[in-house]
Amino acid sequence: MQKVITIDGPSASGKGTVAARVAAHLGWAYLDSGALYRLTALFAKNQQIAWNNEAELAKLAARLPVQFDGQKIFLNQKDVTNEIRIEAIGMGASEVAKLPGVRLALLQRQRDFLTERGLVADGRDMGSVVFPDACLKIFLTAPPEIRAQRRAKQINISLQGVEFEKILADIQARDEADRNRAVAPLQRLPDTLLLDTSDLTIEESVKKVLDWYSK
Ligand code: CDP
Repeated sequence: MQKVITIDGPSASGKGTVAARVAAHLGWAYLDSGALYRLTALFAKNQQIAWNNEAELAKLAARLPVQFDGQKIFLNQKDVTNEIRIEAIGMGASEVAKLPGVRLALLQRQRDFLTERGLVADGRDMGSVVFPDACLKIFLTAPPEIRAQRRAKQINISLQGVEFEKILADIQARDEADRNRAVAPLQRLPDTLLLDTSDLTIEESVKKVLDWYSK
């Protein structure tokens, strides 16, 4: 068994925040695998490579000039920490993530994040494909409306009106795309514990994961 905790789940479920805090608490490394897909989409956009050009995208993903420095992410020495978070790049990430060649190109890169210290990894297929021997696998989720409310609060948007409706629609569209694709579809497998965070704060979610780990 590997010293890895995997936290998979849908968009805006809070898995990134929970995973990073669990990693900090245990003194383990943290892998934000979604960032690698987002970086691939952004790098392709900058080089005018279409998000469905599998052969070129796979080459690009294999040689992403990326550097993780604490909370900051650099692509070709440029700080892209905020740029990769916009929803258009999220959709692009979801597009490029459909392609088996891209997933394969990123596979070893993700596994390289594991050191003796241990690793907390978040994404869509951390428990199913990248770290199938992880010692603890979690599927973290909440209904789309709750996820949309959290995202809206984060960016100071009212919970009523067209802007909120747009956030909700984006989340539902990405859920749909991630769930229905042929490779690494978003799903909860039987060896994975379900953590529904609808009624939990971030701290309570972190505590739950740590409790499961210590059992
Ligand atoms: O932050 P958010 O949950 O919205 O997205 P993300 O984790 O940054 O992932 C962006 C997109 O990359 C997702 O919609 C997935 O399609 C894709 N992805 C994936 O296919 N496999 C992963 N392990 C992580 C992300």
